[in-house]
Amino acid sequence: MLALTAAAHTPHVALTEVADPSPLPSEAVVAVRAVSLNRGEVKRLETMEAGAVTGWDLAGEVVQAAADGSGPAQGARVVGLKFPPGAWAQRVAVSTADLAELPDAVSFEQAACLPVAGVTALLAFDVIGSVIGRRVAVTGASGGVGHFALQLARDAGAHEILAVARRTEGLAELGATEVVTELEPEGEPLDAVLDAIGGPVLGAAIQRVAPDGTVVSFASTVTEPVTYPTRALFGASPGAKVYGLLVFPESRKHGGTAGHLARLARRVADGKLHVPIDLTTSWRDAGQAIEALLDRRVKGKAVLTLD
Ligand SMILES: NC(=O)c1ccc[n+]([C@@H]2O[C@H](COP(=O)([O-])OP(=O)(O)OC[C@H]3O[C@@H](n4cnc5c(N)ncnc54)[C@H](OP(=O)(O)O)[C@@H]3O)[C@@H](O)[C@H]2O)c1
Repeated sequence: MLALTAAAHTPHVALTEVADPSPLPSEAVVAVRAVSLNRGEVKRLETMEAGAVTGWDLAGEVVQAAADGSGPAQGARVVGLKFPPGAWAQRVAVSTADLAELPDAVSFEQAACLPVAGVTALLAFDVIGSVIGRRVAVTGASGGVGHFALQLARDAGAHEILAVARRTEGLAELGATEVVTELEPEGEPLDAVLDAIGGPVLGAAIQRVAPDGTVVSFASTVTEPVTYPTRALFGASPGAKVYGLLVFPESRKHGGTAGHLARLARRVADGKLHVPIDLTTSWRDAGQAIEALLDRRVKGKAVLTLD
């Protein structure tokens, strides 16, 4: 079968022949119809061994149900998260703990955007708890995680939602009540911050968090170390915490991502969650899509379709 594999030269991907998957008893084999790109997997391509398959997000049809009887039946339309990575292939063995059936109203392209970006945003709100009537900030709001986070904050009843992004258009429609290009370290205290950038932006978030508030840190888009006057946290905001979220181990606490994927897919089907697809192209043009994502030309998600 064909797969998008790591390659030595820019854009560090190539379509090559690889072996078919050998599923574990708890894995279903999915014929992949669409995948979406995430900054993390794309950045890692150039350091991967040539010929290795990566990719976390996939949507497609089950061609072989799991041998242990778990998960969706053969023929089901599904969305899945593949970890360890390997979703960018024609057929992929996926743990049924990370596979959810799709409502008919959700396209493969929409579904492929949900796993890492959507589940990360949802898990962040699991960590934060209730935001009803609270002030929430989302940094990197124009990105994949950011778009989902804004909508989830709005739907969860946040009172004020501060979106931080360079490309600000369209963010108010998704729930932002204020849109800025930089998060200032001084200003109204924030009950919760989802930081999709890192570095000095995380430093500013720590200085803005309210007493007993939560900063969820999951990004290293900017790799500079974080600095802040320590009193700005324990002195100004006693009880506030910074929570490090990594989607894969975090989702294991919930028994996998299947439940979160099903919740997100239902909201898309009900028209309550907009999937921010900015770029859709064939996986044969993966290199251009990857360059666009890394050059900050993608607002939301980039999707590759498999022919
Ligand atoms: N820990 C985890 O489990 C986990 C899970 C998911 C994602 N992540 C990480 O979270 C981050 C966000 O993910 P994503 O999928 O939403 O990424 P994305 O779609 O690339 O969005 C990130 C946004 O950050 C902004 N940005 C990009 N480069 C920047 C820079 N150098 N300085 C400041 N802003 C910059 C861009 O907005 P503007 O150009 O409009 O400013 C972009 O829209 C990534 O670092 C990703 O690797 C981690």
